Amino acid sequence: MKHIIESQQFDQKFINKIFSLADKLEKKTDNSLKGKIMASLFYEPSTRTRFSFESAMLRLGGSVITTENADKFSSAVKGETLEDSIKIVNNYADVIVLRHYESGASEKAAKVSRIPVINAGDGVGQHPTQALLDLYTIKKELKSIDGNIIALVGDLKHGRTIRSLAYLLGKYKDIKIYFVSPKPLKVGNDIKEYLKRHKIAFEEIENIELIIHEVDILYQTRIQKERFKTDREYKKFKGFYQIDSKLVSKMKSKSIIMHPLPRIDEILLEVDKSPKAVYFKQAKYGLIIRMALLKYLLA
Ligand code: CP
Repeated sequence: MKHIIESQQFDQKFINKIFSLADKLEKKTDNSLKGKIMASLFYEPSTRTRFSFESAMLRLGGSVITTENADKFSSAVKGETLEDSIKIVNNYADVIVLRHYESGASEKAAKVSRIPVINAGDGVGQHPTQALLDLYTIKKELKSIDGNIIALVGDLKHGRTIRSLAYLLGKYKDIKIYFVSPKPLKVGNDIKEYLKRHKIAFEEIENIELIIHEVDILYQTRIQKERFKTDREYKKFKGFYQIDSKLVSKMKSKSIIMHPLPRIDEILLEVDKSPKAVYFKQAKYGLIIRMALLKYLLA
């Protein structure tokens, strides 16, 4: 595997290999990427993905060159195409981690790149490395991925993390997915068709109360302000779902609450102290998963 573009490209053998590498990297120091350089090109804001990739590279002994706000601080401002920028960065680095506002940007980049391109989120497209760390969190916290009932909640129309995770869950057994969203923010047909082809049971609902007692995983997401045309449109949905302690008390005893973060108001702070709340741990797992990916691609 050269480039990491979308979740559909991962099979269970690859996923297990990355998980087992991540398990090992949690426990020991590793300098296997000494002499290698990672370029992180971020055309959209990020805290977790950029810092965890950069920290992962440094922890493996490699080096990092980086531009955040690439749409303002790279030659994109002067009108350089993404493809030309990628060809140039090929001369200076061994791997490119790309976040872009355009769905399909990583695929475009990969087509002109000799070195691996990792999709770190492309608009409303996908976020495959987030999906891997999400799956790893489920494995670590619930011991098994097969057999779980998961509610994907929030802005499912614009949410790239739920899109990538749904594609990955399609590769497992006895999974049931509840897509919980306001009607105008329903998940895309491409995901539903994929799940049907892979015989994964799913339902679309609006009222989270109806299924909260059933789920093993409550995967909450934020309403994505930056994807709405107007503030007025965004405000129609802001605060549509708010997970509070009362709702959490209705969940099964061994269930967990996940969130790709950042959170705005969709999980109240009072929930953070619940043993079910694993979203900060989830972000922490992102570091070893990204170390494992970089080692797999470069070592
Ligand atoms: N989960 C996630 O992608 O977070 P950032 O936007 O902070 O990278």
